[in-house]
Parts: sequence; C-alpha cells; structure tokens
Amino acid sequence: ESYFQSSQDFKGKTFLITAGATREKIDPVRFFTNRSTGKMGYAFAEAVVERGGKVILVSGKTSLSVPANVEMILVESAEEMYQAVMNQLDNADVIIKAAAVADYRPKVVYDQKFKKGEGDWIIEMERTKDVALEVGKRKKDHQLLIGFAAESEDVIERAKGKLKKKNMDMIIANHILLEGAGFEGDTNIVTLITKEGEQIDYPMMSKKELAHQILNQIILRLEGKSQ
Ligand code: CTP
Ligand code: CA
Repeated sequence: ESYFQSSQDFKGKTFLITAGATREKIDPVRFFTNRSTGKMGYAFAEAVVERGGKVILVSGKTSLSVPANVEMILVESAEEMYQAVMNQLDNADVIIKAAAVADYRPKVVYDQKFKKGEGDWIIEMERTKDVALEVGKRKKDHQLLIGFAAESEDVIERAKGKLKKKNMDMIIANHILLEGAGFEGDTNIVTLITKEGEQIDYPMMSKKELAHQILNQIILRLEGKSQ
C-alpha cells in the first residue's frame, strides 16, 4: 500500500511546513485562537521525513508530540509565524501552509490582567499579516506553494479564489462541515485544486495517508520544474 512506501523520493528537498493554530494575546491570561489541532500539518511533516525529505516545521502550540527528525520552530502569534516563515523561505523547495493563522488580533494587549467591571468589554481587533499572500509574492520559480482553504460553503469556488489571490501552486480545499473532515479528527475529506485548473477529489482517509497522496502530486510538479 502506498501509505507505507519506503521510497526516498524527496531526498535533497526541503519542506517548510506551518501547522496548528496561532494565539493572539489579550492580556497575560487570555488569548484568541481557533480549532486547529495541527494534525494535518504534522501528518505532512511525518510523511515528508518518511520519504527522505528535510522538514522545517513552524508550529503554533499543539498537544501533539514533535515528529522525529524535523527542525522545529515553535511560534505563538501570527506575527511570529510570519517572521519565522520569512526567515526560512529561501531554504525551502516546497512551502505547505497548513496552519490556521489568526486573521485578527486585539489592537491593545494589556500588560496586566484585565479586571472585570460592570459593563461589556469591547475588544477592538486589527488585521494580522497574511503569511501565504506574502510567500506567494516572494516565492521563486523553483519553489512550490501549497495552501489550504477551510470552507463551510462554496468550497471549491472560494478555494479557487484563494489559490489565485495568493499565487499558490495548489490549494487543498477542506470540506469542514462534512462528517470525517476538518478540525480535530484523524481523517479528512479534501479536493486538491492546481493553478492549471486540475481538480482531484479524495475520499475520506487518514490525514497521514492524505499527506502521502498529495505528496505524490507534489513530486510530479517538482520533477517537472527540475527538467
Ligand atoms: N493564511 C496565512 N496567513 C493568514 C491567513 C491565512 O498564511 N493571516 C493562509 C492559511 O495558512 C491557508 C490559506 O492562507 O493556507 C487560506 O486560509 P483561510 O483562513 O482559509 O483563508 P483567508 O484568506 O484567511 O480567508 P477567510 O478566513 O476569510 O476565509
Ligand atoms: Ca482565515
């Protein structure tokens, strides 16, 4: 079965993979985050290592154990993830953006714990940087950018919009409302869309096996580039 393949087809290739959720501080005891567990990104990291590739894993805090033989860079906020990715970008042949990056962060971060009062607490939020958008602008011809789109409706159309806007080579559209897909579980249901307009629907499968399936598509394009 392809899942257990031992071929070292990614030998000499470096993957920069982001995973997990970011945390956006409000005060020393509170933060905003999201439901990403990091499982999909970590599955990619393990699959690449199994196939002989090098992995730089830029990860938000997760409850997962660090995969063996990866270079781990732990980050907290979207801003830290942005800095880590930009620092490592030149080293990567393939960039996989599996992280769920906060789109907004509190405009004011309190140094001391915010104490409750009588009325409502209104927190003003500002936009974070879009890591994938920036990578899409800066990437070189030999680099492949693979993004994700977590969508609850108009999945394919919205994913195509993100692929184009962020200059990605492929996007993995995640059907988050389907049973067996999306956050927290060990399985996923996705459609892979390439910038050439190809579309591959994958049935429900483990995140690890899905990572291997998508790596099979990535290797084809890497080989195309080196010819
Ligand atoms: N992404 C990123 N930096 C951000 C936001 C998103 O790098 N600040 C990346 C994600 O890692 C993912 C892709 O962009 O690979 C799409 O993320 P998604 O949240 O689905 O789309 P957004 O562009 O943020 O739009 P929205 O959340 O409004 O649907
Ligand atoms: Ca988003």
